[in-house]
Amino acid sequence: MHQKILIMDFEGRHGQEIAKIIRGFQVYCEIERSSPDNLAIEDENTAGLVIVGSAEGSSLEDELDSLLSKADVPVLGICFDGGFNNKKAGKETAATPGLNSLKLNHPENSILFEDAEKEFEVISSCDGIFADLSHGFKATSQGDNGESLSLEKDIFYLLGFYPELSGENGKKIIENYLFKLCGCTGDWSIDDYIEKQVSEIRKTVGEGGALCALSGGVDSSVCAALAYRAVGSKLKCIFVDTGLMRKNEGDEVEEVFGKILGGSFFRIDAQDRFLGKLNGVTDPEKKRKIIGEEFIRIFEEESGKFEGIEYLIQGTIYPDIIESGVGGSVVKSHHNVGGLPENIDFKGIIEPLNMLFKTEVRELGRKLGLPDKLLNRQPFPGPGLGVRVIGGITKEKLEILREADAIFREELSEIGLDKELNQYFVVLTDIKSVGVRDGKRTYAYTAALRAVKTDDFMTAKWAKLPHDLLQKVSKRITDEVSGINRVVYDITDKPPGTIEWE
Ligand code: XMP
Repeated sequence: MHQKILIMDFEGRHGQEIAKIIRGFQVYCEIERSSPDNLAIEDENTAGLVIVGSAEGSSLEDELDSLLSKADVPVLGICFDGGFNNKKAGKETAATPGLNSLKLNHPENSILFEDAEKEFEVISSCDGIFADLSHGFKATSQGDNGESLSLEKDIFYLLGFYPELSGENGKKIIENYLFKLCGCTGDWSIDDYIEKQVSEIRKTVGEGGALCALSGGVDSSVCAALAYRAVGSKLKCIFVDTGLMRKNEGDEVEEVFGKILGGSFFRIDAQDRFLGKLNGVTDPEKKRKIIGEEFIRIFEEESGKFEGIEYLIQGTIYPDIIESGVGGSVVKSHHNVGGLPENIDFKGIIEPLNMLFKTEVRELGRKLGLPDKLLNRQPFPGPGLGVRVIGGITKEKLEILREADAIFREELSEIGLDKELNQYFVVLTDIKSVGVRDGKRTYAYTAALRAVKTDDFMTAKWAKLPHDLLQKVSKRITDEVSGINRVVYDITDKPPGTIEWE
């Protein structure tokens, strides 16, 4: 078993960023969101505990107190100081809203700061740490106004700033913590992960069979390839061609997976079924529901054709799990291909990627020989072009959209911008307007181009695409795609817009 760093995260995003840095040092880590009482720090493989908190963490004071009294591995506390330490020291929480930039210097010798610059910028969400030093903590760094920005005592290392937002110096702090304080050896790798998952899938599936829903997206593709490596032809992968795919997409998926999965790949042509169900439906939520339900129905029907299937294998990845633990209102009902069909009685569900971040999933896919073109794909929503054709969906409108979308993607990749954008596509609006071509009046659809930059897809900024590119795309679309005579560019951030239009 590999050493593990446990990250207890009260804040949301920061824990994931820290986890990515830790894994970058080839040290395995997990994020825990449950109550501090349930923490498995007794696990003999746990080499360290990172607590990421906030000033509001003060309500957890008692639990944290008892947790820390149980800890026997080095504890790195990140920004839970404001609440925890101050309360402990009988002082008021000294949190300031938002993030401040401060200059830190660390004259004291602390292992945590070894090889970091003597002075560097940090980002803090509190006014530094004001813990009562008589509790035995010593300050190891100061900010601009002499406030303590880090404290140490025994195996406790508390930071009043976010190391993951402090560039190379922040990384150095994490590296020191892992290797010099926790004694990590940095020997975890994706190869180990593959080996472990392959043997676990094999053991679980045994003599039975397993089913996998393949959408052609990165996660389900990597999952299918991994499961195939484990159980070979005992795996059956179903790719439902909904007719809501981009240009040539169905054929591309078949070409790649027909080779990789051989006789385990099944492409189900369900275009007419989806179009039939969607006929005349214009409400976005209804469309999403119909597509999701139809997908599951087809999946159930098809899987019923195989004998001995006991397990469902799906490509849930780590952020899906972490994020589903955070409450929030549903803006759109997301349909995930590979979601559990309720009426199929499986003995169990296997999620072999559920401890990996997206970059790690891609790395794993590369090791399994999946092509880069597939692994670097931008995200594509489960309901596909169904939510990019605004209003009623017809075969003709889908065809028009596919052509326009292919042109936009082609032109972006021609100048290398596809690598800088996180998502880009064309929406076929339901607006028709008057135009003129070859001296004749036209009355055709308006296409909207959408291109965004985002880290997490929860918020996004519209991309400032070069005017020359927009001009070229507009000309090509209106020249080459009959059915579109007007092109607009969507300049809406998320929020207030969403990335997709429906
Ligand atoms: P929105 O439009 O909500 O989209 O800003 C955020 C991200 O999620 C993708 N998306 C989906 N992905 N099933 C998915 O798997 C869905 O139903 C779905 N709807 C939106 C969207 O493309 C963007 O990347």
